[in-house]
Amino acid sequence: MIVLGIETSCDDTSLALYAPDRGVIANLTASQLVHEDYGGVVPEIASRQHMRSLLPVYDALLARAGITGADLGGIGVSNGPGLVGSLLVGVGFAKSLALGLGKPLVGVHHIEAHVLSNELGGEPLATPCVVLVVSGGHTALYHVTRIGHYQLVGTTRDDAAGEAFDKIAKLLGLGFPGGPVVQRAAESGNPRAIDFPRAMLDRSGFDFSFSGLKTAVRQHVEARGELTPQDVSDISASAQQAIVDVLVDRTVACARKLDVKHVYLCGGVAANGPLRKAMQAACERVGVSYHAPLLQYCTDNGAMVALTADLLLSSGRDDGLDLDVFTRGAISSWS
Ligand code: KG4
Ligand code: ZN
Repeated sequence: MIVLGIETSCDDTSLALYAPDRGVIANLTASQLVHEDYGGVVPEIASRQHMRSLLPVYDALLARAGITGADLGGIGVSNGPGLVGSLLVGVGFAKSLALGLGKPLVGVHHIEAHVLSNELGGEPLATPCVVLVVSGGHTALYHVTRIGHYQLVGTTRDDAAGEAFDKIAKLLGLGFPGGPVVQRAAESGNPRAIDFPRAMLDRSGFDFSFSGLKTAVRQHVEARGELTPQDVSDISASAQQAIVDVLVDRTVACARKLDVKHVYLCGGVAANGPLRKAMQAACERVGVSYHAPLLQYCTDNGAMVALTADLLLSSGRDDGLDLDVFTRGAISSWS
């Protein structure tokens, strides 16, 4: 069965075709570069851009795979959490297709899709495991006892890790999205140049906080005045190290507390090279296996939605035309 996955929860219009016996057949993304001019995603512009992109991306995707809509076994669409306008455009499009083609339709929780993006490499998720979700909108630790069964064990009290990267990049005049540009600038910087705060490391729970780091970077930048390229690199490297230290420390502590043997990363920030390296090393030190999605499936993509939709459809779910969107909330269990 070929499943179509539709992702429009933020600023990427991404559609993919997935079949369990073939893996990802095709995955096409139209990224909205227009937001770069504003230093962040403008919701109204994002919705309009999804409206423009959806049909051309859908047509190109089917053409690339050499199939028609009639060949689809079902449709999955991210219906939350995310920007309400962007979600409504994606869900409306998915409903039209489901109705027109007479196919089953399921709503996919965007965070569950990120968690399961780890399976797009071909290996099933090893459970029980701890999964660190780190993206522009979310920073959370989940205890996954089996596929479809999720317990939220930690979350951010303010900014998400990706948001911290984006805001720090803006303070340094590096552009948007911030993660990749901060990582690049950090390559020629000293991660120990500035001792930025590592919030929550001394607490017993598994929550995160990144707003203090953002403030510390702002104060440092203001105190420094004119920044040399080396300053920008040192601040980038030191801030990135502070984020990585907190994410690694909390995740490994959580895995040990819950006594699980597998740790997974996912979400846009999981593309960060130093984070992947540090998490792998820390997991090795405590005898826990470490996994991360293929780089192309860290940021938002239709493939992770299609794979998750395939599981939901196989479990017998069909949300039909009553499917609604939601803007926030943790993954709910279904198995
Ligand atoms: O998962 P995603 O595409 O969207 C959300 O669901 O939020 O994540 C986007 C976030 C952005 O904040 C971006 O700055 C961050 O992922 N990101 C990175 C890297 N690539 C993307 N952060 C750190 N290092 C990267 N290489
Ligand atoms: Zn995402």
